[in-house]
Amino acid sequence: MDISARKSLLWEETADILVLPFFEGGNLIHLLEREAPSLAPRAKEMIKAHEFTGKKGQNLVLPGAGISNLLVLGLGSEKRGPVFAEVLRESAGQLVQIAERLMAKSAVIDFRDRVFTPESVQAFVTGLELGAYRFHDFKKEKKEAKLQEVMITAQDGLIARSFTKALERTRVINEAVNLARTLVNTPAKDMTPEHLAKAALEIAKSSEGKVKVKVLNREACAKKNMGAFLAVAQGAEHEPKFIHLSYISPRPTKKTLVLVGKGVTFDSGGLSLKPADAMMSMKCDMAGAATVIGFFSLLNSLQPRVNIHGLVAATENMPSGKAIRPGDIVKVSNGATVEILNTDAEGRLTLADALTYAVKLEPTAIIDFATLTGAVIVALGEEISGLMTNNKALGKNLLESAKDAGEKLWELPLEPHYRDLILSDVADYKNITGTRYGGSLTAGLFLQEFVADLPWAHLDIAGPAYAEKPITSYLAKGGTGYGIRTLVEFIEKF
Ligand code: BES
Ligand code: ZN
Ligand code: ZN
Repeated sequence: MDISARKSLLWEETADILVLPFFEGGNLIHLLEREAPSLAPRAKEMIKAHEFTGKKGQNLVLPGAGISNLLVLGLGSEKRGPVFAEVLRESAGQLVQIAERLMAKSAVIDFRDRVFTPESVQAFVTGLELGAYRFHDFKKEKKEAKLQEVMITAQDGLIARSFTKALERTRVINEAVNLARTLVNTPAKDMTPEHLAKAALEIAKSSEGKVKVKVLNREACAKKNMGAFLAVAQGAEHEPKFIHLSYISPRPTKKTLVLVGKGVTFDSGGLSLKPADAMMSMKCDMAGAATVIGFFSLLNSLQPRVNIHGLVAATENMPSGKAIRPGDIVKVSNGATVEILNTDAEGRLTLADALTYAVKLEPTAIIDFATLTGAVIVALGEEISGLMTNNKALGKNLLESAKDAGEKLWELPLEPHYRDLILSDVADYKNITGTRYGGSLTAGLFLQEFVADLPWAHLDIAGPAYAEKPITSYLAKGGTGYGIRTLVEFIEKF
């Protein structure tokens, strides 16, 4: 999509749609009588007929005088903060949908009001570009969104420049989010560990030397004693890959962040096979990896003052004659042994080795993103991720960043008293507990055993990483790229 900002007046522009943002409680008829008198009489009738008041989400299309249609977007009454930002993202998503209906290619939106800041532009452009995302790699006819050109009007040249800056930065972020969505949406037949590694290598290639990638194959992982990761991988035909991305900040810094993403490219459950229904969306089990890899794709543009590593232990989880069996005991690279009682609790096994690797990098903090448990969806539903952390400050930054980014995150406890539930009679740990209750918490406790008391946060993204149905006007069914926008906010405050 071609998006720009410029000093201009909505009423002097022509486009397929002229967009007028409108706050509840304003006098729309007065405004139209003043600015677009030819539209006013017809508008009066329609405002009445549709009981249009400008409530958020309410919108009104006034068929064009001349070439342009006028779209009035109801924004409600909130004029700042995260609620307003979400209204703008939603409105932008609606604009994309309305343009689809009206076969409109271009739009101009009036952002001359002082309430619109660069943050408003960021929110609006996010809604536009995430809303216009299409996953059609496997379709004969590749239909792009109709809306291709949007211009944002500003009060004056100075504000227009600040808008342009905001929208350019936002576009880079959106591209990363949409890349992550495509990685998740691509079927597991194509999104193999090798393919995931290739995606990481491509990012390195286009990063002007800022991002480096190292990929370890099965043998190299064996040399590093990654017994838990390789146990999950042993039933699969596709070779596992351990992907290590790194970004060294061009500006001096003492801070190092390690991001770990669960990269199970397909989770059949292994010999503890999932029922058919539960398996249908399991190409999404590498969504954590997609978040990390997607985030790395924007580091060359963002150039944060933090050194960052990205780790993905990528493998399928498949049943076969070579697969791990319930009852098997495996050894993690830190020396701990795990009794595998359910091969479907494989994420924590792959992460145990990835977190051990993370600790060796001696970072300031570790954050992992993982579609780890169905239980977190039972607890928080499909839109909210669960945060577990051993460090208050890290948790606070993540919760605030998620709020600012418009991604939902809620803290769950790492209850020490539940730790007994993951201790095995015959090994150091077992990979499931004897109870269905608190499944996300015990999974979090299991991971905690591998972070050696370093500041660490775990985001269980099983709910929002993959949308079974459209979540908002700007997030369609499928991969959502959850976490990238939060990380962008987070890294600035880290
Ligand atoms: N990948 C799943 C978790 C999941 C479920 C992600 C639904 C996205 C949507 C994970 O590997 C898994 O199967 N977890 C088991 C753990 C159980 C066996 C202790 C689960 O949640 O049922
Ligand atoms: Zn599983
Ligand atoms: Zn899984």
